Amino acid sequence: MLVLLKQNYEALSREAAHIISNAVRSNPAIKLGLATGSTTIGVYRELVRLHREEGLDFSRVVTFNLDEYLGISPEHPHSFHHFMLEHFFAHVNIDPGNIHIPDGTIASDYEQYCAAYEADIEGAGGIDLQILGIGRNGHIGFNEPSSSFASKTHLKVLTKATVDDNRKFFAACETIPRCAITMGIGSILASKRVLILATGGAKAAAVANAIEGPVTAYVPASALQFHANATAIVDEEAGSRLKLKDYYRDVMEMTELFTPGRSS
Ligand code: GLP
Repeated sequence: MLVLLKQNYEALSREAAHIISNAVRSNPAIKLGLATGSTTIGVYRELVRLHREEGLDFSRVVTFNLDEYLGISPEHPHSFHHFMLEHFFAHVNIDPGNIHIPDGTIASDYEQYCAAYEADIEGAGGIDLQILGIGRNGHIGFNEPSSSFASKTHLKVLTKATVDDNRKFFAACETIPRCAITMGIGSILASKRVLILATGGAKAAAVANAIEGPVTAYVPASALQFHANATAIVDEEAGSRLKLKDYYRDVMEMTELFTPGRSS
């Protein structure tokens, strides 16, 4: 996996947005796989800035979000629908008809719904660039430890650790969702390029296990070691437990030599 070590969250966000915006410019009808979570907020902020200041055009971009809580309406302030609108979609010229986010309100026929979501991705020609965050337990999307590496979009029961991590987003009196619909690890691996982002010391163990640890269902993000075009962008704290940090810095330095102006 290519590992880009960035000094802080701002630099990480700029680098990710730089890669995404270049991809959008070279393929204006790109299919983007999008993630939610606090890590991604800075990337969306930067993409919105590029749209406003440099005219980055999202009018033909098609998006598929990774996941959504089950039992939550799109209008719920903590739904991933709401997150995407608030941090990204409301501020760029994306065609609402090109936005796909799993529907957290379905109450039956889950398998058919998930198969249809997967078919929509395939029908669009697959995801060109998938953005990911990572959970403290190494989850990607809502693929919790023990998820099959071949899984496609499915209904997932969340671990207690994930429910607890998400508690911060909900009011004390609110019921926190215990299930979600998520693209599978197999869906993620099928995308042409993957960017995984991590910030802060709380993610350091998950990052090291995902990038350098053994490939195991216990760390879902370790499946990305099988992806031919995966890039991890991590800040100093999130990358603090990586063993090959010096090597990653050497690679970044050499890459800069071959393609000057890349670092941000
Ligand atoms: C949720 C999302 C993941 C995200 C993770 C980390 O579980 N389903 O896609 O990567 O949160 O969130 P944060 O970036 O807030 O740490």
